[in-house]
Amino acid sequence: MISGKWFPQGADLTDVLSVRQGVFAQGVDALDQEAQSVVVYLDDVPAGAGRLWWREGSFWIGDLGVLPEYRGQKLGDLTLRLLLFKAQDHFAREVRLLAPEGAAGFFARLGFREDSRQGKLVEMMIPGDEIELDSCKACKKANCPKRKE
Ligand SMILES: CC(C)(COP(=O)(O)OP(=O)(O)OC[C@H]1O[C@@H](n2cnc3c(N)ncnc32)[C@H](O)[C@@H]1OP(=O)(O)O)[C@@H](O)C(=O)NCCC(=O)NCCS
Repeated sequence: MISGKWFPQGADLTDVLSVRQGVFAQGVDALDQEAQSVVVYLDDVPAGAGRLWWREGSFWIGDLGVLPEYRGQKLGDLTLRLLLFKAQDHFAREVRLLAPEGAAGFFARLGFREDSRQGKLVEMMIPGDEIELDSCKACKKANCPKRKE
């Protein structure tokens, strides 16, 4: 079973950190005092995580990762959608992130576009009113019975 859980500022971050350590080899830092984190579980095992914080007029997504053994099962997509849903819930004017070049396509799928480059990192953004979490609208399957048009 797949489930998601939010961890507000000040919460026990054990599950968040188990993913962060496994993906980025990083532990707790000062940003955890400002950020809300989300964990996606597969059969109660923390498999994916990411965090969301507000700074200077923008919401930022960071440290979004899925443990290598759980990739390719749409858990990263779910983690990103949960973060965007939370940003939408906060009436985000825009959401920004820094992605390694190799991951930019993953974020572009949900409408993020390149804003600038910082070495090998791509700064990407999406205006809040362009966040589209209805996966049917973006789906290209022509003969899907769920398709309305
Ligand atoms: C990027 C990452 C989170 C993707 O997680 P994942 O669970 O394997 O991805 P999903 O299974 O949810 O993939 C969803 C879709 O995105 C696509 N996708 C996955 N990784 C991609 C990438 N690097 N570039 C482009 N598309 C990608 C998949 O092919 C899939 O497409 P589909 O819907 O057409 O089948 C994962 O590879 C990861 O943790 N990478 C290391 C950390 C990282 O770079 N994080 C991003 C910046 S903080």
